[in-house]
Parts: sequence; C-alpha cells; structure tokens
Amino acid sequence: MKMVIMFMPSYTIFAGKPGFHVEDLQVRECYRRKGFGKMLLSAVVEQAVKMGFKRVEWSVLEWNVSAVKFYEEMGAKVLSEWRVCRLTGDALDAYGDANC
Ligand SMILES: CC(C)(COP(=O)(O)OP(=O)(O)OC[C@H]1O[C@@H](n2cnc3c(N)ncnc32)[C@H](O)[C@@H]1OP(=O)(O)O)[C@@H](O)C(=O)NCCC(=O)NCCS
Repeated sequence: MKMVIMFMPSYTIFAGKPGFHVEDLQVRECYRRKGFGKMLLSAVVEQAVKMGFKRVEWSVLEWNVSAVKFYEEMGAKVLSEWRVCRLTGDALDAYGDANC
C-alpha cells in the first residue's frame, strides 16, 4: 500500500461535539515529502469541519520527530501534558475473570 489514513468518530465532552480520531497515517518511504501526508490529513480535517466537528485528534510517539514536525506544520498542537492510558494483556483479561 502506498499510503493509508485510518480514522473514526470520537466524542469530546469539553466541546460537546463529535470529532474524529486518527488511528493511523502512513506514506510509503519513497513517496514521502511530496505532499501526500498533508493531502490525506487535510481531507479528514476538511470533512470534520464540514460536519461541524470541533476536534481532530491523534497520538504520536515522542521519538517520532519527523512526524511531530509534520503535524506541527499541519497546525496541530502537540500536547505534552497528556499521557496515554492503556489496558491490555493480563490487566485487561483480569476484567474477564471477574465475570466468571
Ligand atoms: C508523517 C508522514 C505521514 C508525513 O507524510 P509526507 O507525505 O511525507 O508529508 P508531506 O509531504 O505532506 O509533508 C508536509 C510538510 O510537513 C513537514 N514534514 C514532513 N515530513 C517531515 C520530516 N521528515 N521532517 C521535517 N518536516 C517534515 C514539511 O514541512 C512538509 O512540507 P515540505 O516537504 O514542503 O517541507 C510520513 O513521514 C510517514 O508516513 N512517516 C512514517 C509513519 C509515521 O510515522 N506516521 C505517523 C504516525 S503518528
């Protein structure tokens, strides 16, 4: 696949409106820096605006400096005060055990 963007509806209590969560954005290496990433993310953001949404949000790993630069170039704020919380593996499965 040359490029992909995956996104889904989300909801923001603060704005009291739906938004989009972007789950994945990738452009194959040989196609990078040709404007494709910008085109894909812009299409999602434009759709959000069209639908009256108030937020488009996603996560980026701290070490992914080139993606951070890309997102900043797109006008996004990288929020360092937020941390990702995740339940997975045994910690997640433990909730299944509780129902036995
Ligand atoms: C991040 C990614 C999607 C950007 O896609 P892209 O098609 O290369 O980006 P664009 O060509 O649309 O770049 C738009 C602007 O963003 C900035 N930018 C993009 N990549 C950059 C980089 N590596 N370093 C610095 N600035 C960058 C530039 O300002 C660029 O404009 P310019 O090329 O005219 O200078 C692509 O690098 C990628 O697939 N990376 C690997 C997967 C990944 O990390 N995805 C994000 C996960 S959170």
